[in-house]
Amino acid sequence: MKILILNGPNLNLLGKREPEIYGSRGFMDYYEELKALYPDVEFDYYQSNVEGKLIDKIHEVGFSWDGIVLNAGAYTHTSIALQDAIHGVTTPVVEVHISNVHQRESFRHQSMISCVCRGVICGFGLDSYRLAVEALRK
Ligand code: DQA
Repeated sequence: MKILILNGPNLNLLGKREPEIYGSRGFMDYYEELKALYPDVEFDYYQSNVEGKLIDKIHEVGFSWDGIVLNAGAYTHTSIALQDAIHGVTTPVVEVHISNVHQRESFRHQSMISCVCRGVICGFGLDSYRLAVEALRK
């Protein structure tokens, strides 16, 4: 099974950025732990702060890989282009958020991508990514 973990804007700052919300652990450290939990899964990881690069990556893997775990960061709340990209591919996409966006500012309550994602997991910290992998495996 091939799963892409795709992180959007500002998620390269995990561990340093607003640790009271996103925790103090860097993503690459967590990613190593995640890979070790699923030795039978082939993972790849990609992060970009650029909307078009995220779209290019979805196009690249979206007809051949088994799943995409996508934290689109703030593009979640704004990007029709990401919605179209997810809609246009066949690989199932699981939307994840580290924080519980529904407990935060009202502009974070709306997602432009949930309607085209297989499911949504939010609010479990970095463990949201593992829960998304579990869902894709089933
Ligand atoms: C986030 C929530 C978004 O609202 C925010 O813009 C992020 C991170 C999360 O993982 O909790 O960048 O996607």
